[in-house]
Amino acid sequence: MPRPPGSAASAASLSSRVFGKLAAAAAERRARGEVVHALSVGDTYKEPLAAARAEAQRSEEHPGLHRYAPVQGEPALLDTIAERLAARGHAVPVERIQVTAGATSGLSVVASALLDPGDEVLLPAPYWPLIRGIIAGRGGVPVEVPLWPALDDAAAVEAALEAAVTPRTTALYVNSPHNPTGAVLSPAVADVFARVATRHDLWLVCDECYEDVHFEGDAPAPLLARAELHERAVAAHTVSKGYGLAGIRVGWVHGPASVMRAIRGVQTFQTYCAARPMQHAARAALLGGDAFLAECRRDYARAGAKVADALGIARPRGGTFVFFDATPQLEAGEDDCLPFLGRCLDAGVLLTPGASCGKDYARWVRLCFTTVKPAALDDALARLAPLMR
Ligand SMILES: Cc1ncc(COP(=O)(O)O)c(C=O)c1O
Repeated sequence: MPRPPGSAASAASLSSRVFGKLAAAAAERRARGEVVHALSVGDTYKEPLAAARAEAQRSEEHPGLHRYAPVQGEPALLDTIAERLAARGHAVPVERIQVTAGATSGLSVVASALLDPGDEVLLPAPYWPLIRGIIAGRGGVPVEVPLWPALDDAAAVEAALEAAVTPRTTALYVNSPHNPTGAVLSPAVADVFARVATRHDLWLVCDECYEDVHFEGDAPAPLLARAELHERAVAAHTVSKGYGLAGIRVGWVHGPASVMRAIRGVQTFQTYCAARPMQHAARAALLGGDAFLAECRRDYARAGAKVADALGIARPRGGTFVFFDATPQLEAGEDDCLPFLGRCLDAGVLLTPGASCGKDYARWVRLCFTTVKPAALDDALARLAPLMR
């Protein structure tokens, strides 16, 4: 029972800064006028499609633009999302779609709708840093299951997930293409996720944020499209990644009818509705953004390959990050990557400590290859080169 100055136990471990000290040191460096290539946050240097920009949304075209939107979402956007899902082989009735303030809010709404305090969620590690806090912030228990770098070994993945299941396990989180590794689930490993969720009657929370950012041929078949998972798969999507619209905060979630009532209820009390002008922007991106997506895939694939080659690791198959083991870069007596990240920052490059993606990855480092323009990325790699032994 928190009294002033205390706060809720479930919130006490949450921080607005995933890696505070390095970020503060980077800010000081910038204030001194020194270069910092921030390859830490997953964003893009690209300006979005003109029709999808904030300044393109006009009251004359959209009456009531600045009023509340319906809780479920702007009807025209909902229709466009439904058409898009159907075109991708996964027809979802409009009433089972909920627009949210980005996938961060979408996944928070899903967590609140699915989890009671103490419920466990299997969290394949490494993971997108915010997902852990999203689960913990609702009183859920994130159970880290380290799957990297052996993610392609279906038997090992199944054994690891199985070993983590307990009577309190409620959900299994899956993200492909993946932040932070750039991996895409192989069909055999996707089968494992489907099997484990079904065998233990779990919710399967599919984080589809990078569904458009894949580098090898056609889009990978999403788990959520499998007919046998329709009653247990809840998915979160966003325009942040493929469409370069992270700042407009629009995403959507969908799931079986059984859970949509709870999701809509949570959404009502959490944010009520996503920003209405930005819902129009998101619709413009979905309707007119195919060429933009193709351009991003081409340019991001090049950037990812360049970075991977420079670091001597496998090229990413999607997403906007690579994840590498910095053990060879550590000096005697260093047992995590933080001193190395300090040296990277001294050289002008800000990277993310792997520990923010999972407790077993303290020696690993995450790098976003889409945040800065190609010339700046080249400069960042040149600055890192002397540190990579
Ligand atoms: C795997 C993953 N899920 C969800 C999100 C959140 O996306 P949004 O910007 O829509 O909140 C991100 C953003 O980095 C992500 O990498």
